[in-house]
Amino acid sequence: MAYRNLLVADDGAVRTLTVNRPDKLNALNLETLNELMLAFGQAAHDHAIRVVVLAGSGDKAFVAGADIAEMNSYTPMQAQSFSRIGQALMLTIERLGKPVIARIQGYALGGGMELAMACHLRVASQKAKFGQPEINLGLIPGFGGTQRLLRLAGRGAALELCLTGAQIDAARARSLNVVTQVVAPEALDEAVQALASQLAAGAPCAAAGILDAVLSGGECSIEQGLDYESQAFALCFATEDMREGTSAFMERRKAEFKGR
Ligand code: COA
Repeated sequence: MAYRNLLVADDGAVRTLTVNRPDKLNALNLETLNELMLAFGQAAHDHAIRVVVLAGSGDKAFVAGADIAEMNSYTPMQAQSFSRIGQALMLTIERLGKPVIARIQGYALGGGMELAMACHLRVASQKAKFGQPEINLGLIPGFGGTQRLLRLAGRGAALELCLTGAQIDAARARSLNVVTQVVAPEALDEAVQALASQLAAGAPCAAAGILDAVLSGGECSIEQGLDYESQAFALCFATEDMREGTSAFMERRKAEFKGR
């Protein structure tokens, strides 16, 4: 399917979705949110795809936020539905059931930082900049930023970043768990590719179980979280991949997972 604001490229089991509005620093307008929702839905249902990489076009920005020009004339009702659509997209990404890696080469501001935080792993260039600058526009984050930043970085950092609107560099973002890996700009593609290949070689049912247990477990009692874990653990025993992984260990060879 052809998109107006997205590029889609497959390399084996890795699908890269690139937000492609470089002249607007990849700002998220409604059309782009809708296209991302469709594209992630397709990636979720395509059995051949095991990992998704999310990127932004050009050198300057991953995504510089929700589209300010579009929001400027919104009524409160339109703003609420825009926020809900953005939040639904972030949840879709977070609960995709397959690992999603954000490739962050430049600005990840506002909705861009929220988009990055909805991904499971975030690889950033040393040049990347992060922030929740909505307060400078008389706004607050509307795509889940207050909640995911709180969960990733804690209350102190969430309040500091949202209340000041300050931009932080990749090193500070790493120290706050907002990114998982920081690399030199010229090493970014190689680092993302290496991580994506590693994850794509894994057993998909196990990856899905880990995502479900960790993401669901973060929002409930330990007893309920342990239930999620046991169910996902048991489900792995229904897969050929689990037999292959344990047999390969005993036979002292590398496992080959088929996604079955
Ligand atoms: N929404 C809509 N358009 C945006 C945008 C956004 N969030 N961020 C950047 N753009 C557009 C600019 O309007 C400009 O378009 P134009 O050339 O048609 O005027 C283009 O992208 C380039 O941006 P510009 O501001 O000229 O680049 P810069 O290098 O001087 O500054 C930023 C880069 C990221 C610091 C600056 O663009 C910025 O502050 N963007 C908004 C960040 C923000 O507040 N995000 C949260 C939104 S809720």
